Amino acid sequence: MKILVTGGAGFIGSAVVRHWLQAGHEVVNLDKLTYAAATPTPEGIEHAGRYALEVADVADADAVARIFAQHRPDAVMHLAAESHVDRSITGPADFIETNLVGTFTLLEAARAYFEKLSGEGRARFRFHHISTDEVYGSLGAQGHFTEETPYRPNSPYSASKAGSDHLVRAWHKTYGLPVVTTNCSNNYGPRQFPEKLIPLMILNALDGKPLPVYGQGANVRDWLYVEDHAEALALALSRGRLGETYNIGGGEERSNLELVQSLCDLLDEALPHSPHRPHRRLIAFVEDRPGHDLRYAIDDAKLRRELGWRPKETLASGLAKTVAWYLQNRGWWEPIRSGVYRGERLGRLAGGARR
Ligand SMILES: NC(=O)c1ccc[n+]([C@@H]2O[C@H](COP(=O)([O-])OP(=O)(O)OC[C@H]3O[C@@H](n4cnc5c(N)ncnc54)[C@H](O)[C@@H]3O)[C@@H](O)[C@H]2O)c1
Repeated sequence: MKILVTGGAGFIGSAVVRHWLQAGHEVVNLDKLTYAAATPTPEGIEHAGRYALEVADVADADAVARIFAQHRPDAVMHLAAESHVDRSITGPADFIETNLVGTFTLLEAARAYFEKLSGEGRARFRFHHISTDEVYGSLGAQGHFTEETPYRPNSPYSASKAGSDHLVRAWHKTYGLPVVTTNCSNNYGPRQFPEKLIPLMILNALDGKPLPVYGQGANVRDWLYVEDHAEALALALSRGRLGETYNIGGGEERSNLELVQSLCDLLDEALPHSPHRPHRRLIAFVEDRPGHDLRYAIDDAKLRRELGWRPKETLASGLAKTVAWYLQNRGWWEPIRSGVYRGERLGRLAGGARR
């Protein structure tokens, strides 16, 4: 297959690109190369003649139409997005442009392309939209999100993703575009941009800097290792039923404080001579994020039942791999930490404007 992956230079997109290249397929990566595009070249895989990078904006209709016409993909996996909730609080415009207008533009180009396909190519074509569990809003202490949970997004990020999910559904119902949507919980693993919780904590701890935990650290998230997500996505693309949505989760709920404490303990073990041990001493509680959802938890029984997917990593094994990767790959993150993102607090409203 030839797969057009959007956002393939980002954290999850680059894992998806590696997955398909390793399986012997061809990949076209459509990516604008924003600040978050930390992995534009797939590493450690022989991909001569099977990987092309197209630097373009998903919201640029002419560029996207040209890419469809030139590469003639068998399927599209749409991951390109502005993805950081904190940035969406202080700068929502980019989220509306990329996540909503960009998804609309890509859907229109995919529709025009699909309408001209015939025979096997038409039967095979899929538009796979990759989304988040954050569209469902926040849970209390009990319960899980299912595919039937009403959408109640609370941040500009989750609202823009919710809107994009609705567009994808409408392009299926109205125009018959063959779509599949997946909504996944928090991902972690190698090559995650250091503004996100886990890499930020690892890299701050290495420098002996405070580990900023929002509020009391009581917010609960479900965590999934990124390569397990990439496998679930490949299954959903290949075998998911058209027009359906599938939740994807790790079955590993932790409060943010528990998660950061686990990272500290892993670093204590990995770095017996660090002057910053015990790393738990670095934990610092800071002003909470505005509109911070209390708890996300995923019921992914549908995906497990219909497609037979199971994550391979537990949170313990995945976190150990992740810490080891950041310790061994300074060359990947040092230029980011000394340049485009130095670990500063994002997402605070000016003048104490809080709800
Ligand atoms: N990270 C998570 O925990 C998580 C969980 C569930 C779903 N998702 C979804 O998965 C997708 C990928 O997330 P991620 O964490 O890898 O994001 P990321 O921020 O690491 O990467 C996003 C990529 O999209 C590209 N991009 C941004 N705007 C673009 C535009 N206008 N045109 C073309 N390319 C553009 C960036 O250059 C970057 O390479 C997103 O759609 C996100 O909503 C993420």
